[in-house]
Amino acid sequence: MRTTYGIAIRKGGQGKSTTVSTLARLLALYGARVLVVDLAQPGTTTASLRDAWPRTEHGDLSSVLVSFRHLPPGATPAAREVRTALSAAGLPVALPSQPSWSGGRISVVPWDELQGDAAAFLQSERVLAGILAGIPDAPDIVLIDYPAEGGPLLTNALTVTDRVIMPLAAETPALEGADAMLRLMTRVREAGHPITLGGILLTRCDPKNKRVFDIVQTILQADDVQGEPLSRKLYPFAIRANEFYEQAFRFGEPIWERTSNPSHWGGYVLLAEWVLRDAGLAHLAAARRGPALLPPDTHILAISALVLDDPEMRLADFEAARAATRPSLQ
Ligand SMILES: Nc1ncnc2c1ncn2[C@@H]1O[C@H](COP(=O)(O)OP(=O)(O)O)[C@@H](O)[C@H]1O
Ligand SMILES: [Mg+2]
Repeated sequence: MRTTYGIAIRKGGQGKSTTVSTLARLLALYGARVLVVDLAQPGTTTASLRDAWPRTEHGDLSSVLVSFRHLPPGATPAAREVRTALSAAGLPVALPSQPSWSGGRISVVPWDELQGDAAAFLQSERVLAGILAGIPDAPDIVLIDYPAEGGPLLTNALTVTDRVIMPLAAETPALEGADAMLRLMTRVREAGHPITLGGILLTRCDPKNKRVFDIVQTILQADDVQGEPLSRKLYPFAIRANEFYEQAFRFGEPIWERTSNPSHWGGYVLLAEWVLRDAGLAHLAAARRGPALLPPDTHILAISALVLDDPEMRLADFEAARAATRPSLQ
């Protein structure tokens, strides 16, 4: 069984691409087979994986999309045709397996600048669903970096997504972007696709910024928004704001190559473990290793501690507190 996660919010600069590339690397490290689908201009996720990119040539998703433009609304491309189109395009791109991944892998459907234009020719909103279903060597987990703009590419992405993970930086327009995304998801559910909100991830979080406190309070006090119990959907940990994510992108490397302090990426380790459990792969989450092997004194930005005005918690204390309360998103 594969689970498809959309990393999505209707507002740019929230940390979507950083989340997709960091999460993909961590999930592979735990031994998961991950497919990354980069639909987000200007291909930041694809560029963020540069250090692991193979030398082989590949074609573009746009050419694969265009080949299914004849399909009428609601039709799904046949698996055999999908395989032919994908192999002609050399997609997905398999990243050479790293020794630390032990059984895990990452393959990528990279971003290309004609995706949006190609998707404009599509009549069916199920083309991407058919393409992803037809990918050989089925992945366990699909991560889609969502397009910012509306249109058929977005509709196709929504149709194939099981769960949305919404990164959100502590700034006022982010809440509008979250609200717009939740409204869109309601429309998709009404059209018969069971998309749900996995969780909201506070990113680029500087606990000294008073905005963070305000935004966390707003979310914790929001009960039912578009059918989602928002207050229970905020992940209990946040991602610290730090310069190393920017550097990691610039050098096309993981953040743990830029800094040795695991407190900077500890939140993403906890998110990866949430994804593994959610995707039915809890057995993989049990084995922390490499950069996911967080020492007990790693500092986690705990949402509960933010509210108490004491931002950081030792990982060991954080996990003991979570084990004691067992909330839905622990
Ligand atoms: N935790 C973080 N701390 C500081 N900067 C970050 C963090 N996460 C992302 N960034 C930076 O913020 C900018 C937006 O992040 P990005 O992942 O590209 O967002 P999106 O894909 O939503 O547009 C990028 O310059 C990125 O390097
Ligand atoms: Mg992006």
